[in-house]
Amino acid sequence: MQVLLVDNNPDTLMKLSEIVSELGHGVVVATNGTEGLAQYRKHNPRFVIANVTLEGMSGVELCRAIRRRQSMNYTYLILLTKAEDDASVELSIGSGADDYLCETFSRDMLRLRLEAGKRLITLGGRDMMIFSLAKLAECRDNDTGKHLDRMREYAKLLACELSTYPEFESIIDEQFIELLYLTSPLHDIGKVGIPDSVLTKPGTLTSDEFAVMKTHTVIGGETIRATAAAYPQASFLKMAMDLVMYHHERWDGTGYPEGLVGNNIPLSARIVAMADVYDALTSKRVYKAAFDHESASKIIIDGRGTHFDPTLVDAFLQVQDAINAIRIGFGDFPQAAPATTEPASVAITIPQTEEPTSHPLEAAPILDLGASQDSSFMAHRRSRTVSSL
Ligand SMILES: [Fe+2]
Ligand SMILES: [Fe+2]
Repeated sequence: MQVLLVDNNPDTLMKLSEIVSELGHGVVVATNGTEGLAQYRKHNPRFVIANVTLEGMSGVELCRAIRRRQSMNYTYLILLTKAEDDASVELSIGSGADDYLCETFSRDMLRLRLEAGKRLITLGGRDMMIFSLAKLAECRDNDTGKHLDRMREYAKLLACELSTYPEFESIIDEQFIELLYLTSPLHDIGKVGIPDSVLTKPGTLTSDEFAVMKTHTVIGGETIRATAAAYPQASFLKMAMDLVMYHHERWDGTGYPEGLVGNNIPLSARIVAMADVYDALTSKRVYKAAFDHESASKIIIDGRGTHFDPTLVDAFLQVQDAINAIRIGFGDFPQAAPATTEPASVAITIPQTEEPTSHPLEAAPILDLGASQDSSFMAHRRSRTVSSL
C-alpha cells in the first residue's frame, strides 16, 4: 500500500521513510500540511502519517481536510505527537485520526500501527465486497427496491432484542449482530444461478420451474461453503452460509431445502427468514399491493410456531414500532408511506388449492417471500379476500 508521510523534520521524515519502505509499502513524502494535502489529492494513499505540529496547515487540519473529502477508499490516518499523554490522544482522535504515535516511535511500534490499519482497511473492503455482491444478486430481481437495506435493519433489531432473552444472551453478542447485519443481504445470492427463463418469467411457474427457483438456497449456500473451505480464516462466511442456505426453512420442518425443524435451523437463518417475509409482505409487487404493518404483523403472529420460531415472534412484537419506523423510513415509494391497507375494491379470492403453481404468490417469478412457500401465510391469505394480486 502507499503511505503518505508528512513532517517538517527531515530526520523524522527519513526515519519514517526507511521503515515504511522496509515494510514493503510505497512512500510519498511532504514537508508541510499544504503540500501533504496536495500529495494526498494526487496519489490517494490508503495511509497517511502526519505530524501534529506542521507549519502552515497543521496535522490536525490536514486530518480534517482529508476526512471531509469523499473517497472511494478509506484512508487510515496516524498523527505523530510529542507525547503519549491524554491531551495528545484527545487531539488526534478528535481530529478524525485513527491512531497516534509518539515522535520517539520504534520500528516495531510503527509496524504494529500499520498492521492494525491494514486490518481495518481490509475489513472495510470486505464489507463493501459483500454488500456489492448482494446488490448484484438483487439486480436479478425486478422490483425489490431497498429490500436489502430494510431487511438487514429488521434483522439487526430482532437480534438486539433477542440478545436480552436469557436463552440467547450467550449466543448473541455484538459480533453476532455485526455479522448478521453484514451478511444478511447475501441471503438470495444464489439467484444468480437461476435461469432468466424462471427468475424473470412473467407468468405462472410450473412445478418444475418452482423447484428450480427453490434451488437458489443450495446454489448460494454451496458457493459460500466452498469459499469458506478455501479461506477458513474468514469466519464470517459460516454465518453467511447458514443464512443463505437455510433462510427458507420453517420452524415446523415444512420449509426447504432440508426441512430442518426448530432449533436445528441456524439462528441467523431464523432471524433472516422473519425479516425477509415481513419485508416482502409490506412491499408492493406486480401481483399484490403492499400490506400495512398491522396486516403483516398478524401474518407473522399467525406463523408463530409453524413458520417462525415462537420466541422470535415475541421479539418481533416487542420491537414492532421500531420495525414499522424502518419500513416507513426506507420506503421504496415515498408517496405510499402512509401504510397501505389491503385494497378492498377489486376483489379476487385466493384459490383453495395446495398446488404451489396455482397460487398467485407462488407463481410470481420474483417472489422470495419465504413467501411463495409459506403455508401459514398461504392459509392466512386463503382465508380472506384480497385484491390487486
Ligand atoms: Fe430466498
Ligand atoms: Fe429477500
